[in-house]
Amino acid sequence: MCGIVGYVGAGAGMDVVLEGLRRLEYRGYDSAGVAVLSDDGVLQVERRAGKLANLEKVLGDRPLAGSLAIGHTRWATHGPPTDRNAHPQVDCGNRVAVVHNGTIENFEALVAGLEARGHERRSDTDTEVVAHLVEERYDGDLAAAVRGVCRDLEGSFVLVVAHADEPDLVIGARRNLPLVIGLGEGENFLGSDVTAFIGHTREARIVDQDQVVELRRGGVTVTDLDGTVVDGESFHVDWDTAAAEKGGYEFFMLKEIQEQPDAVRDTIGGRLTAEGLLHLDELAMSDEDIRGIEQVVIIACGSSYHSGLVGRYAIERWCRLPVHVEMASEFRYRDPVVGRNTLVVAISQSGETADTLEALRHARAQKAWVLAVTNTVGSTVSRESDAALYTRSGPEVAVASTKAVIAQLAAMYLVGLYLAQVRGTRDPDEVRAHLRDLQSIPDLVTEVLSRMEPVRALAGELADAPRVLFLGRHVGYPMALEGALKLKELAYISAEGFPAGEIKHGPIALIEEGTPVVVLAARHALSAKLVNNVQEVRARGARTIVIATDGDESVTPYADNIIRIPDTKSLLTPLLTIVPMQVLSAAVAMAKGLDVDQPRNLAKSVTVE
Ligand code: G6P
Repeated sequence: MCGIVGYVGAGAGMDVVLEGLRRLEYRGYDSAGVAVLSDDGVLQVERRAGKLANLEKVLGDRPLAGSLAIGHTRWATHGPPTDRNAHPQVDCGNRVAVVHNGTIENFEALVAGLEARGHERRSDTDTEVVAHLVEERYDGDLAAAVRGVCRDLEGSFVLVVAHADEPDLVIGARRNLPLVIGLGEGENFLGSDVTAFIGHTREARIVDQDQVVELRRGGVTVTDLDGTVVDGESFHVDWDTAAAEKGGYEFFMLKEIQEQPDAVRDTIGGRLTAEGLLHLDELAMSDEDIRGIEQVVIIACGSSYHSGLVGRYAIERWCRLPVHVEMASEFRYRDPVVGRNTLVVAISQSGETADTLEALRHARAQKAWVLAVTNTVGSTVSRESDAALYTRSGPEVAVASTKAVIAQLAAMYLVGLYLAQVRGTRDPDEVRAHLRDLQSIPDLVTEVLSRMEPVRALAGELADAPRVLFLGRHVGYPMALEGALKLKELAYISAEGFPAGEIKHGPIALIEEGTPVVVLAARHALSAKLVNNVQEVRARGARTIVIATDGDESVTPYADNIIRIPDTKSLLTPLLTIVPMQVLSAAVAMAKGLDVDQPRNLAKSVTVE
């Protein structure tokens, strides 16, 4: 949560930081602010409640000049999303400006001390204490002051600090949350992720736990909290600027939905051997270790959890291994039974979700193998896992996930097939055949995308529905959950996904005349039973929208609307059925005049538990 940018260079600091904030706004949009240091040493701070556009409007009329700047876009934790609680927060003398992502757990004790020492609080934030603490400690060495403050802080934080007396220095510090350095020529950057600066440089370096960065025009120094310089490696970012821009679409999500064929293609690509089998060197487990696995546990949140549910069907089918899928936020509380013979797969687009991180830490403490399936190179989830299998969907900006999820689905099929290949539960010819099916998916997704006009046309009719139900069986069930989640997130409609067979045990009571019910009836062995379920809900007045495979007429008599998808293997149908549900949710949100990319109350990277 919260996006952070820091810049020192020769350019207009305000513009660089605003550009970074635009890219990071998916991390929170309750308020935004910047601090720019003028050439004559004045820290100019501007901040506004609400989306970044509010701040940009003010700065458009009154730009702030200076080539050193920090900025923030907020997802509120301490204190409501008002102007006064927006970051940057400043000290008593307006000489220290601080932006912060995270939660300072001992802030009440720190506040008491500060108030006793005469500091005046002007916000409800935990962040403001950092500004006052730096003010107290600063004696000409800003890095030392921040290191000292960090030693006193408990909790999680990324801090970026500027001081009126330091025209060539921005300080960054982190604990538990991500901070990345962008390395330029005569200019350097800090960002919550690399998109903050990819318009300027694609050379980056990750800041590690409890490290402090001194960012100057001429270079970057990283130390630990004792001030000892630590070396680190830089890496090249493959993503280009275009990948993080809207490219003519009204919303990022609309572009990201269209990018899904590539997301699947790139995730599979480069992972096949000349013999048509899989190599997943990233797994970092020996074949012997893989053969020793006795169970798989998948942990994830939100849409990533739904990818995990689909992964279970694939792994159990192909590998005959028991698979448990857990919501990461609940994993620890059950005292789960995992050990050395457990493969834990942590799925996270951002690689920073606090619930997933804590769950994987718990799993590692029990000696389980942890494989991260993530979209973000160098993310905390990937670095704390034994191995990382990267989905390659490129940067995803819209808060609700689309192309990253389809890439996760592809990755989970790869994990299943690889385990089957190494463990010998499927013979090589069968693995090859499944891989060929998987390779045909990107073109089929393109085909689905070309058929979406009738789906968009449904949006106006669903916009006023108080509730929508989604039904599926087998792999259609997790996709029913995903369809419902998308509609909730984007269109604020009360939507629920159910196993189609379960509806008669309660949820059918929700159906009234005209209640929309989306049925995922893509080809699979259970479709005859699904047809019965469609009849059951229709008999009670439901308006049925059925996603069905080309040529399957069994459900036609009971469907008010049919959305057709091309044929593929049953197990792989989520890669196709997911698309119309994304398109439908986005279209309903647009019909209601909502912000598709930034739904209310949400943030993309949820770094609080
Ligand atoms: C947030 C997002 C969801 C996402 C979930 C898990 O709630 O709004 O779209 O699925 O976090 O995020 P992760 O980065 O761990 O996949």
